[in-house]
Amino acid sequence: MATAVEPLIALTRVSKEYASGDAVVRALREVDLIIEPGEFVAIVGTSGSGKSTLMNVLGCLDRPSVGTYELAGIDAGRRTNDARALIRNRLIGFIFQGFNLLPRTTALENVELPLQYRGIKAGERRARAMAALASVGLADRVHHTPNQLSGGQQQRVAIARALVTDPPLLLADEPTGNLDTRTSLEVLALLQTLNRDRGITICLVTHEHDIAACARRVITFRDGRMVSDELSPTPLDAAAELAALPPPEVYSKEGDADDDPAMALRKRLGGPVPFAVHVMAFFGVAVGALAGLAYNAVVLGMTPAQLVTPIVGFALAFDTLFTATYARRRLGRPLTSDQRARISLHVTLVLLALAGIAALIMLKVRAPASSVAFFDAVAQRGAPIVIAGVAAAVVVVGLLHYLLLALFAPRK
Ligand SMILES: Nc1ncnc2c1ncn2[C@@H]1O[C@H](COP(=O)(O)OP(=O)(O)OP(=O)(O)O)[C@@H](O)[C@H]1O
Ligand SMILES: [Mg+2]
Repeated sequence: MATAVEPLIALTRVSKEYASGDAVVRALREVDLIIEPGEFVAIVGTSGSGKSTLMNVLGCLDRPSVGTYELAGIDAGRRTNDARALIRNRLIGFIFQGFNLLPRTTALENVELPLQYRGIKAGERRARAMAALASVGLADRVHHTPNQLSGGQQQRVAIARALVTDPPLLLADEPTGNLDTRTSLEVLALLQTLNRDRGITICLVTHEHDIAACARRVITFRDGRMVSDELSPTPLDAAAELAALPPPEVYSKEGDADDDPAMALRKRLGGPVPFAVHVMAFFGVAVGALAGLAYNAVVLGMTPAQLVTPIVGFALAFDTLFTATYARRRLGRPLTSDQRARISLHVTLVLLALAGIAALIMLKVRAPASSVAFFDAVAQRGAPIVIAGVAAAVVVVGLLHYLLLALFAPRK
């Protein structure tokens, strides 16, 4: 990807050696690496291959032994310690595996810290820290200390702290190493949003294949050398992966449902019914209605009630069978009773609308004498009876739907 933009990171033949007793450890060997602004890069490789050493050099925590490191056009590798501390504070945000938050210090104070080093006044510091915490979804946790936060929340505080100075570059060494799958994906989704919406360049080290798959570029290290550098045309979208996971109560090990009423409610309700389950329900309705029509076609000359019953009956049977089994596969567990009730209501209302349309067509197009007589008889009873009839139909069909869903995929 050749661009006219100045690279954000340019390493030229960088080597890093550590003296270890008598021996010399060559942690990086002649690394050439260009990273443009706005890239999302994952660094992978076996333990000891030099990934953290590279991050330390990129983050101006350490100097290359040989070679040059230019960051945003500044020859960062050769600056003094003080100058490099300044570059770090201005250009780089860090996220670590262990979060590295100050204990017994609130989220807000932790996030304010880099601004304090810059000598920014208390009022502005507070406002910017609040905004950064809000941008990682923690506006309601600003006064919690790290031990009052879950792992994922602590990592989000660390991300807010890295972001509060508005750095163009975010470096993350195993940011999801201490997190479970769901929380890792949440952190990744947040990083992808920052990369996409704010153009922040992200460079992250990971051991996990799933995490690396979220990056547009994956660089592999072995024995201090870059052994591959690949562009991924279709990186995984962490937010989409997250949406496809079963709901938290099945998956997450974070047990904060007890003290968080919103979580407890979500656990009981089972979360939203995935859109695909609705689609499956209506597919079932369509298949069932066709089966009902086919049944009617071979049994002619019935009254309207007899004509409608097989269509609704088949539609209900197919739709509940498809919905219950598909939802169980998709969610990894049967629908909760609340989810059953919600999807039953939706499907029933749609079925009712379809039945109304079918009735109208029957009357207008090719109404058998018996159905005209039926509708006349109904119409003569007046509006209250019609409304009561429709309401009764909704209740009966809705209940049947609910019971069939439970029958096809019971909760233990
Ligand atoms: N300060 C140090 N002094 C001496 N040797 C070091 C130092 N830091 C790293 N090394 C060595 O350099 C090599 C690369 O280490 P590095 O921490 O970069 O690996 P890594 O790829 O991050 O591994 P991991 O996946 O386990 O974190 C290792 O052999 C390590 O022992
Ligand atoms: Mg490491």
